[in-house]
Amino acid sequence: MQPLSVQLQEIAALPPDRPMSMPGAFYTSPEQFAREAATVLRRGWHCLGRTDEVPEAGDFFTVQLLNEPLIVVRQADGAIAVLANVCRHRGMPLAEGCGNTKRFVCSYHAWAYDLDGGLMRAARMKNAGFDAKNCGLHRHNMQLWNGFIYVNLDANAAPFDHPKLDALLSNYDSAAFKVAHVAEEVWNTNWKCLVENFMEGYHLSVVHPETLHGYTPTGLARKLASGDGFTSYAANYPKDIPSRGLGAPDLTEDERLRSTLFSIFPTQVASQAASLLVSLSIFPLNAGQIRVKWTLSTYGDDLDAETIAARVALWEEVNHEDREKLERMQIALSSDHALSGPLAEDDYEGTIRDFQLWLAAQDRI
Ligand code: FES
Ligand SMILES: [Fe+2]
Repeated sequence: MQPLSVQLQEIAALPPDRPMSMPGAFYTSPEQFAREAATVLRRGWHCLGRTDEVPEAGDFFTVQLLNEPLIVVRQADGAIAVLANVCRHRGMPLAEGCGNTKRFVCSYHAWAYDLDGGLMRAARMKNAGFDAKNCGLHRHNMQLWNGFIYVNLDANAAPFDHPKLDALLSNYDSAAFKVAHVAEEVWNTNWKCLVENFMEGYHLSVVHPETLHGYTPTGLARKLASGDGFTSYAANYPKDIPSRGLGAPDLTEDERLRSTLFSIFPTQVASQAASLLVSLSIFPLNAGQIRVKWTLSTYGDDLDAETIAARVALWEEVNHEDREKLERMQIALSSDHALSGPLAEDDYEGTIRDFQLWLAAQDRI
């Protein structure tokens, strides 16, 4: 058997009309996961949530990305910062969960940090080697895009730029969507399995017969733009379906009659519809486990409270249906017989091929 890195290059080099999936070990091997954690995940831009989860100065939430505990905070000047949630004294995490604070005070020896990470106060520190100016919290490389907050653990990573995706989403006014629901769960699946699952329309009618099939049947799925670091497809609605909110004024009729699903690799998958924006941030824990944080946001006053509650319930059900499949598949993927298999054509599984091509390119860096 070839090493997985060689198999990935071979699969990426297949002709577009003969795509194949990667074998099970790609999704179950701890060595493969360690390699990804040191490369593609370490170098990637990861969505942490929405800017309006922290609307006021001092609002914060915490999150763990690989080995890095993070604080996402709205500073006094209104800017958002992503700080290392690691005290510069002896390494205690400074904050837990989410909330609002004037400063972060370490629970161990009470060092106090400003909202921008600067050390304000450290009691009884008289030794010559101590200089408060050198003891600020690390400020991670971060970027905002369409109302989402991203971090890159590589301090030198260039900002991401996806002009083709920007063009695809421009009419939706994604930045104006307001968050209505945030939830987190731990799923027993590989992180790449959820990216692939969310981004292929092939399973829609089979896995979601009651929840999605009526609106987004497999047969109407169409591949959309892809490029360096993202892919997308349209989950089109049947023409006779009742409108689910008008959304932004510039939306075309076609855009109102579909959900535009996109992934910003490696770990964000999202569904942008006229009045509803659902995004899943995937935090890989090990080869077979992820933490999923999902947000549901809505446009203007398009949806009333009852409709929003119904959409949240629908998406809980959809996620439950996908999770059940992925958790069962994760067990079978450890089989010696989880071999590379043929993929469906572009409209149904071309997004998986886009992901493979990107992973293969990343693995060559
Ligand atoms: S570890 Fe934070 S003050 Fe000592
Ligand atoms: Fe699904």
